[in-house]
Amino acid sequence: MKNDKKWTQLWLSYNTRRDAGNGRFFGEVFFDGFDTQDPIIQNAWAELSRGLKGMLGVEPSLNKSGLSGSGFAVRRLTECAAEEFRLSCKDGSLVLEAADGKGVLYGVFHILRQIALERPLDQAQAVCRPDDPLRMLNHWDNMDGSIERGYSGRSFFFEDGEVLVDERTVDYARLAASVGINGVVLNNVNVKDQATWLITDRYFDKAAQIAKIFEGYGIRLFLSLNYAAPMELGGPDSADPLNGEVAAWWKEKFAEVFARIPNLGGFLVKADSEGRPGPFTYGRTQADGANMLADLVKPYGGIIIWRCFVYNCTQDWRDRKTDRARAGYDNFIQTDGDYRDNVILQIKNGPMDFQIREAVSPLLGGMTKTNQMLEVQAAQEYTGQQIDLCYLIPLFKEVLDFKTYCVPGRDTVADVVSGRTFGNKLCGMAAVSNTGNDANWTGNDLAAANFYGFGRLAFTTSLSAEEIAAEWAGMTYSCDKELTAAIVGLLMGSRETYEKYTSPLGIGWMVTPNTHYGPSVDGYEYSRWGTYHRADHLGLGVDRTDSGTGYVRQYHEPNASRYNSVEECPEELLLFFHHLPYTYMLKSGKTLIQHIYDSHFEGVEEVEEMIRTWESLKGRIPEGSYALVRERFERQLHNAREWRDQVNSYFYRKSGINDQKGREIF
Ligand code: GCU
Repeated sequence: MKNDKKWTQLWLSYNTRRDAGNGRFFGEVFFDGFDTQDPIIQNAWAELSRGLKGMLGVEPSLNKSGLSGSGFAVRRLTECAAEEFRLSCKDGSLVLEAADGKGVLYGVFHILRQIALERPLDQAQAVCRPDDPLRMLNHWDNMDGSIERGYSGRSFFFEDGEVLVDERTVDYARLAASVGINGVVLNNVNVKDQATWLITDRYFDKAAQIAKIFEGYGIRLFLSLNYAAPMELGGPDSADPLNGEVAAWWKEKFAEVFARIPNLGGFLVKADSEGRPGPFTYGRTQADGANMLADLVKPYGGIIIWRCFVYNCTQDWRDRKTDRARAGYDNFIQTDGDYRDNVILQIKNGPMDFQIREAVSPLLGGMTKTNQMLEVQAAQEYTGQQIDLCYLIPLFKEVLDFKTYCVPGRDTVADVVSGRTFGNKLCGMAAVSNTGNDANWTGNDLAAANFYGFGRLAFTTSLSAEEIAAEWAGMTYSCDKELTAAIVGLLMGSRETYEKYTSPLGIGWMVTPNTHYGPSVDGYEYSRWGTYHRADHLGLGVDRTDSGTGYVRQYHEPNASRYNSVEECPEELLLFFHHLPYTYMLKSGKTLIQHIYDSHFEGVEEVEEMIRTWESLKGRIPEGSYALVRERFERQLHNAREWRDQVNSYFYRKSGINDQKGREIF
């Protein structure tokens, strides 16, 4: 079945740009030392031609002999690292050097970005090497075409139990490669029904076709695996990792899979989590489970990415000792150092679940002898579902900048996931993708900045959220300075605005159960999920200090003591770590309850202001995009008001304390 929708090209739309003196380089293009029949080089060339024609009206010709005079030369330079490129301007010629096809491809996308942003290339002196070895997108796409936590239409990889391979697959690979993505997990981590069969003959041909398209863009295909596959695909009636028959089944299975999809990167596994099967069922450790698979994929160069989202999801709300935040660390820390070198543990940025604000997971840098990868969520499950604007790059940056104190010196999360801390190669970042088959790919046109930004940040973790926003706005719309400034302003303020009208000071949740959009303060308060705010008539917050659940001790010092102390705890995380009275005085001189009231009123006012800003851009944004985003803002405003009024009324009714400013609370 084909995707029959038309779709946009996002930041690769290549519309006309002012020529900042760049067109002159590209009359003739020389490839020196690279095989121009290599698919990745062909794709780089095709992209360059397309971009130059669209943006500058230049149609380059391909020349295989050496460069004489001015022009653009692509040269093989073996000193370059894998995926690295170097760009320089010498004697009126532009030279791109790389050791491999991926370096060339990334270099070409870099050049096209400069042209789109109307920056002169003759001042280009760049040595670019990705910070994170693995830069992955995780799709939570199901084989019936639905997407778990998808807010942008249906899957463009699957429909009605079939794998889709068409032009959209290619455009997706182009978009992903343009921001440096080098790995894609095609199917949902919750592997059920037909998805279990992805590792069978039923789907090999199509999966191999996708893997081949991806390979041409420097992307390796990965699949999510059902840990209980042997039991469901006619193998032994067990998934015990230490059972020889189970291992023998997997051995044969992987031989078949890698024979049919030779360039497959490996597998992502969600085990012992939210009802998914895993090694705990058999009294084995997570390492036992991961290692059994890792040993068997190793001969094929495969890796096993094993998720750490393991917690008790059948908790009793009356139980104040069990703390979901503790679970990841408690379940994995004992196994640190037990994993094979082709296993990576994939750790969500926070210990709970992708909230608008939560502490950084203590497993990141908590483990010191195991490959680790950071998992973030570009899909806006808890952050407005691509209806509300929420630019997530500032949040991702905060996580990367977090100092773990795991070793003296290079100890931020960015250091850990780039391999700088432990000198390992298997590490990086993964984002749950926010794409779907909507014409604009991401539901809200402005949410594409999260897809773009994730890739750019994983490639160069030192980029600022603001630089990325400006690049994205410039490439997507135009380089008009005022327009860019307005869009950057909208994006940069959006996370704090969202935080203001939703749950306060790191407590999280308070969302409508299951759908996770809109307020329901007590929605999860008496449920089994371990996500409580513990509000009563005197105060709220979860005590995770020494006198509470003791979670703070999972951090290295001085983080542990800092979080343990109510005075030293960063205020934006106060209720994540402490249970406090409504009358507690914040550093701003406001009481906790007054802060709740004020921030919720401010949040709604800020959405109104965002709408005014957007309206001021009418006529300068393509009409379709303008109207779509305007409509989303209207829904955001409705949502923000609902949150403000429900949260304020809830805490007013609980506390009986009036708003000092006498505003309307219900
Ligand atoms: C969240 C989300 C689920 C998802 C899970 C996961 O709990 O709501 O839909 O399956 O995370 O990351 O595995």
